Amino acid sequence: MSGALAADLLAWFAQTGRDLPWRRSGRPRDPYPAWVAEAMLQQTRVETVLPYYARWLRAFPDAGTLAAAPLDAVLAQWQGLGYYRRARNLHAGAQAVAAAGWPHTLAGWRALPGVGPYMAAALASLCDGLDAAAVDGNALRVLARLSGEEGAIDLPAVRVRLTGLANALLPPGRAGEWNEAVMDLGAAVCLPRRPRCGDCPVRRHCAAAASGRAADLPARRPRRPQPVEDVAMAVALAPDGRICLQRRPDDALLGGLWVFPDPARLGLPPAAGWPLLAFTHVFTHRRWRIDGRLHRMDGPLPEAGDLRWLHPGAVDALALAAPTRRLLDAAQRTLQIG
Ligand code: ADE
Ligand code: SF4
Repeated sequence: MSGALAADLLAWFAQTGRDLPWRRSGRPRDPYPAWVAEAMLQQTRVETVLPYYARWLRAFPDAGTLAAAPLDAVLAQWQGLGYYRRARNLHAGAQAVAAAGWPHTLAGWRALPGVGPYMAAALASLCDGLDAAAVDGNALRVLARLSGEEGAIDLPAVRVRLTGLANALLPPGRAGEWNEAVMDLGAAVCLPRRPRCGDCPVRRHCAAAASGRAADLPARRPRRPQPVEDVAMAVALAPDGRICLQRRPDDALLGGLWVFPDPARLGLPPAAGWPLLAFTHVFTHRRWRIDGRLHRMDGPLPEAGDLRWLHPGAVDALALAAPTRRLLDAAQRTLQIG
């Protein structure tokens, strides 16, 4: 019976699988585009990734070019995608590949920075033809419905069970196709809120559809609230119109990106300044409640290695963190500076 499910899914995939740029190399897939795509797709939607992916491959057409590029150029290409750790990992990974060649085992893929179990299985199946099921959140949803799993998919035991199921279902020798087919099913048919069971190629194998529970699965667990931190940011305006940006330390949150500094860093009193924009920036595991204020500087401008005073038109050369961009837009609207 499991063979029939795989056959139905792969037949559907052969007809309707998405034509995506990183899928154009034939099988096995070329590792470099596949790896770049997986890194971008880790936390970002396909439609958003497409233009970034195209530009990235033009800027860094292969692992050697990427390995030799300066980190700041790599981060600048990533600008707008968020979660910059992924760009650093690609850069470091390219250097490992330039030195030692591409991996050909699950463990080899796992050894590249930023490659977890999902990405290792995806890349080993796509690029090396290994029989490994790539199970991310979308696959977990599809598998939970197919098997009628009642447990919440953020529970480790449930993930282990569904990963085992996926590895049992995948047709040996065709894991790359299977993994892409599951991705496409989750993206186009087995949707999170409104699964389109009427159009589904594996409906006759699906426990959730049989019991009318498709939209109720997977079960959810209430999430803990994320910690909130108050962060003050100063848009400090020099008499000559320049503003001050600060480069975050490499190992910090938003490492290597440019932000508006804390007022204290510029010797400004905490509650001073003119309120510009208060907003929340959401990270994976915490939130910043940002209070952005405008300060007009008089007297000598503080200088330091991590600070830079520049005209607003010149900041686009730097890799800006998302909250920086937002505050900068607010300042430009307010001040009509540019
Ligand atoms: N093709 C290969 N990997 C993919 C992914 N993670 N998302 C969408 N399409 C893909
Ligand atoms: Fe998902 Fe419905 Fe297809 Fe089952 S039948 S896999 S719930 S779309």
